[in-house]
Amino acid sequence: MTHSLVDRNDIVDVVSGYVRLSKRSGANQFGLCPFHSEKTPSFSVNAEKQIYHCFGCGKGGSVINFIMEIENLGYRDAVAFLARRAGMPMPEEQNDAESRKRARMLALNKDSARFFYEQLSTPEGRRAGEYMAQRRISPATARNFGLGYAPDTWDSLEKAMRQKGYTDFELADAGLVRRGKNGGFYDTFRNRLMFPVIDVRGNVIGFSGRILGDGEPKYMNSPETLVFNKSRNLFALNLAKKSKSGYIILSEGNIDVVSLHQAGFDSAVASLGTSLTAEQARLLSRYTNQVIIAYDNDGAGLKASQRAINILEKLDVKVKVLRMSGAKDPDEFIKAKGPEAFRKLLEGSENQVDYRLRAVTEKYDLAVDEQKVEFLKEATELVARLPGAVERQVYAMRVAAQAGMQDAPILAEVERRHKRLVSRAYREEQRQQSQPERQSQPAEKALRYDDPDSARAEEGLIRLLSLEPALGARPELPEAERFSSPALGHIYSVLRGRIARHESVSSANLGEELNGDEMSLLVCIQQAPVSLTQSDRALQDYIKIIQERWQQRTQKDAPLDLRALATSQREKGKRYEGNG
Ligand code: GTP
Ligand code: MN
Repeated sequence: MTHSLVDRNDIVDVVSGYVRLSKRSGANQFGLCPFHSEKTPSFSVNAEKQIYHCFGCGKGGSVINFIMEIENLGYRDAVAFLARRAGMPMPEEQNDAESRKRARMLALNKDSARFFYEQLSTPEGRRAGEYMAQRRISPATARNFGLGYAPDTWDSLEKAMRQKGYTDFELADAGLVRRGKNGGFYDTFRNRLMFPVIDVRGNVIGFSGRILGDGEPKYMNSPETLVFNKSRNLFALNLAKKSKSGYIILSEGNIDVVSLHQAGFDSAVASLGTSLTAEQARLLSRYTNQVIIAYDNDGAGLKASQRAINILEKLDVKVKVLRMSGAKDPDEFIKAKGPEAFRKLLEGSENQVDYRLRAVTEKYDLAVDEQKVEFLKEATELVARLPGAVERQVYAMRVAAQAGMQDAPILAEVERRHKRLVSRAYREEQRQQSQPERQSQPAEKALRYDDPDSARAEEGLIRLLSLEPALGARPELPEAERFSSPALGHIYSVLRGRIARHESVSSANLGEELNGDEMSLLVCIQQAPVSLTQSDRALQDYIKIIQERWQQRTQKDAPLDLRALATSQREKGKRYEGNG
């Protein structure tokens, strides 16, 4: 199935929908990488192998990986996406157990959301209505968000959903009921204002329930389920993605989001009770290139803002930070000062340079000389990173004013640091572009090699196996456990498994068994040139290195390393001689 799917979706065609491929060299076409920011193209697509690879950030894989990454979809959804694109049916969809389960859970969630919404108009649901009135959430807003009420009983939802044909186990899998000590099931959400979490495709994937008034815990969220992953979704993005405002407002609380939308700021979203994750940031960057952070006005909010700025900037998203004074969060601000005041705040919101500069300024006491020096170091480094010369000048002058100094030396210092940064970046780019195969570490930080010597041999073995699968039958091949890198070990065992089952080892077919990082790594490994005439010799060398390194690593864990002890004794002896 995935085979013909890959055949019917030529990678050059698919990628061209997102990236302008211009430069060509051999079977490779190059363009600007959609996954990191760059000025010269290092993103390549290989029509022969039907894979892509970026020499800059190291991302790579098949057409399926590309769609997973760029559309932020899971493997199944990416396959469905490509099937739709190629006008193919999804025959395995109907009989595939997991996707059936998923569809069932989404239906259950939708039915539950409807149930909670209907409770608002029951006599008991009036409590939620009163709470919303107190928080000034209008009925129209409640409808827009599909807010609802979970009754103050142990089994209202459970009964209602059972009547619709769902089983207790299905309810438990969706996190809607829990299993009690006596083996029975009880509703997870009781006496709470319910916020359905809806993904960008319109599926109800989970719930947040807020207590009516004060009490602990303030919020309860659905657990991670087959369809709900908190770190990959944002509350209200389903609404915000339709906004015409050109930016997205990122806040902390569900109530803030609801209140912002009600006041006309229809591009507000919230991360689901966590600080912004890289996945959420990537998701955001698909809908906007400008994010305005409106976190709570406290220490935690400030810290979370800094983190969010760092994550978003890497994706080339412009970030501004809102400074609210006299209110703890956007909801309170709007209630106290009205939507117009909030709009003014948005317009005047600090860009991230102001924001960071202020953070640096607040760290130091500029009346103390040593601290002033530290301040100048940090502030000029910050300003030096700005790409525009005018921008650098403006901020350099501000730094000078803050420190009570002349403009000229500060400007000179900023330019000096800027030049250094530029030439460092240039060298780095040259190095990565001219000799990508020399990179001895994978681009993904999560995959740092502990033992680079062994890892290089492990990579070599993987490269040989994917080019010449017949080598997979050699009895002298080491076990995957001997590999120093878990990721390489996993790729290796996947390859060997497929070879043993006489399945294809082309990377385009491995998407289901390897995660995104592993896929990128494999494609990167396969890019390196190799001479097949020497393959047997190379195979033996690789095996030898892997075995030796493994022995050394396991010996190192032994209580006493005599050789190392001996060397260090000798060193000490020398030093004494020299001193005497
Ligand atoms: P208000 O106090 O009514 O303004 O609530 P809020 O919606 O603005 O939430 P708040 O700023 O207190 O918290 C931000 C987010 O953190 C919430 O929307 C929740 O997603 C999450 N959160 C807050 N309290 C809890 C809690 O007790 N448990 C869990 N799991 N998440 C929480
Ligand atoms: Mn709040």
